[in-house]
Amino acid sequence: MTATNDFIPTTPYTHHIEKGIFQWSAPSNIALVKYWGKRDDLGHQIPANPSISFTLNNCKTITSVAFEKRDLSTSINGTNPSDYSFDLLFEGQPKEDFKPKIQKFLERITPFMPFLKDYHFTINTENTFPHSSGIASSASGMAALAMNFMSIEKALIPEMTEEYFYQKASFLARLGSGSACRSVKGNLVVWGNQENIEGSSNLFGVPFSGKVHSVFENYQDTILLVDKGEKQVSSTVGHDLMHNHPFAERRFEQAHENIDQLIPIFENGDLEAFIKIVESEALTLHAMMMTSMPYFILMKPNTLQIINAIWKYRNENKIPVCFTLDAGANVHVLYPENVKESVLQFIQSELVGYCQNGQYLCDEIGFGSQLIKQ
Ligand code: DP6
Repeated sequence: MTATNDFIPTTPYTHHIEKGIFQWSAPSNIALVKYWGKRDDLGHQIPANPSISFTLNNCKTITSVAFEKRDLSTSINGTNPSDYSFDLLFEGQPKEDFKPKIQKFLERITPFMPFLKDYHFTINTENTFPHSSGIASSASGMAALAMNFMSIEKALIPEMTEEYFYQKASFLARLGSGSACRSVKGNLVVWGNQENIEGSSNLFGVPFSGKVHSVFENYQDTILLVDKGEKQVSSTVGHDLMHNHPFAERRFEQAHENIDQLIPIFENGDLEAFIKIVESEALTLHAMMMTSMPYFILMKPNTLQIINAIWKYRNENKIPVCFTLDAGANVHVLYPENVKESVLQFIQSELVGYCQNGQYLCDEIGFGSQLIKQ
């Protein structure tokens, strides 16, 4: 089993490198069994229950990190050698308000990446989805950043194995945002200790290693943008509400049970059973927020309209389309590729009217982060 300390380099870096640039893309992901609640007593972003997600393909963050060795005897740009030195650009323009998040991330990962204060970094990031879409960019953003830092570390330790590279990338991404660890590698990713899934860990996400039926290949996710506003409850606050929540312990057990049930479903392609678990997970996530103290309703009237329309369409047409939700009002419509044409027609004729400005994003299952430039 891998432990947190296994990600601390034990020997000095074997190579020296003055400067360079990497660029990675990392996708967003959509959880089928949800991560909601943390074990803060065990470390940063240690999940209270395991989760499993589909990796997306089109909604992604593209981030480059240029790095240049600092002369630590003199201060560059007035920075103290004990501080981090970095510039942050969003779509090519300086973005000061993103910096504290990056600063915090660097602080968290420094024990595992001792080179971080030796370099000045220029981080340039952009998303393929509209910034104001209400789609969380923290998973793709933190994963893309973690990939770049791992590429730099690999340049310093060229003998690093590919397995270690991806495990540590996911481990670092988790320290930025829990769900980010599921955006590194694989199309179906498990994060959190789960007895029946060998290699699963609370520390990083792993590609699901079981058999997966062809019906899940190219599975579609059309994201209906019901409410593009600021999140009513941040994930951090939301996860916190699971402490002393009256139903928390039972919910955490249920997540284990649901993953156990999904294992044979992935193999045999039983979409009826798949739909039951996925929709129940989405509603349970929202039920947890409705029954916490303070309590929240994160769905909007149009979220319910969409859910009801999906249920009616599914019953009438026997087409295996279902929904899932994040901690917000937007709806992810999930369906196999072989019914894509009919479902898109249904979305356009019956669901678009419930979307803010008629907006929706078409996505499908993808394979994780990709190196673009080195
Ligand atoms: C509802 O990963 O955004 O999307 O770890 O605090 O950054 P932090 O939270 P985050 O939580 C995501 C919660 C969720 C469910 C899920 O993706 O599993």
